[in-house]
Amino acid sequence: MDIAIIGTGSVGSGLATAFVGAGHRVYLTARSADKVEAAAQAAGATVATSPAAAAALADVVILAVPFGAAEEIAGAIRPVVNGKTIVDVTNPAKADWSGPLFGGTDSGAERIAAWLPEAHVVKAFNTLLANNIAAPAPEGIRLDGYVAADDADAKAIALGLAESIGLNPIDVGPLSAARQLESLAWLNISLNMAPGSTWKTGWKLVGAPVAVAA
Ligand SMILES: NC(=O)c1ccc[n+]([C@@H]2O[C@H](COP(=O)([O-])OP(=O)(O)OC[C@H]3O[C@@H](n4cnc5c(N)ncnc54)[C@H](OP(=O)(O)O)[C@@H]3O)[C@@H](O)[C@H]2O)c1
Repeated sequence: MDIAIIGTGSVGSGLATAFVGAGHRVYLTARSADKVEAAAQAAGATVATSPAAAAALADVVILAVPFGAAEEIAGAIRPVVNGKTIVDVTNPAKADWSGPLFGGTDSGAERIAAWLPEAHVVKAFNTLLANNIAAPAPEGIRLDGYVAADDADAKAIALGLAESIGLNPIDVGPLSAARQLESLAWLNISLNMAPGSTWKTGWKLVGAPVAVAA
């Protein structure tokens, strides 16, 4: 699959490496050309000169940027993502980092879907801490890859991508379930804010429904 990843931070770089390792072609972009070049080289990805250039080359576009940048990027990629799958990994935060930006009545993913009405937005990978991307099985336990989406085909693509990098793919329902996924991520983040935390904790639903693969 051809995947555009916008963002070369710990998440964008980690996912790029993982997806290349799983046999996907990855186009990587962000703002700093130097960082993009270095991250692409490290991951075995291809440099793209802008979010729109990357998105035009891909079937799937992953938004691995702060939520605050998502609206601007949505505007830039909108002309080239009709019918494509957009994977939102953001965890929108309050300005003081005291918790999720949307208190269960809305979500970053739904906002992004409103900004990209001709694309199919999926919430996925946001509960996976960057430190676990390369090996998503801390203590030998395969972490869950929760996927929320309204479009069945886009959801199947994201479930398949999650499985391809070693996660246990789980369909958690419509895109509005992103409200719960963003809160779930924040619970993990808040626990890791304690001094000495590993930032390697993750979510596994014990006794979960049978894993759903694409
Ligand atoms: N860190 C985690 O463990 C984790 C886990 C799950 C989800 N998330 C979420 O995933 C997202 C990325 O997290 P991160 O830790 O990788 O963040 P990060 O290290 O701060 O990286 C953010 C990336 O976004 C790029 N960016 C920012 N504004 C941009 C714009 N307008 N156009 C293009 N690129 C832009 C930056 O590019 P430049 O460097 O070139 O400016 C940078 O590469 C966030 O929404 C976060 O909430 C994080």
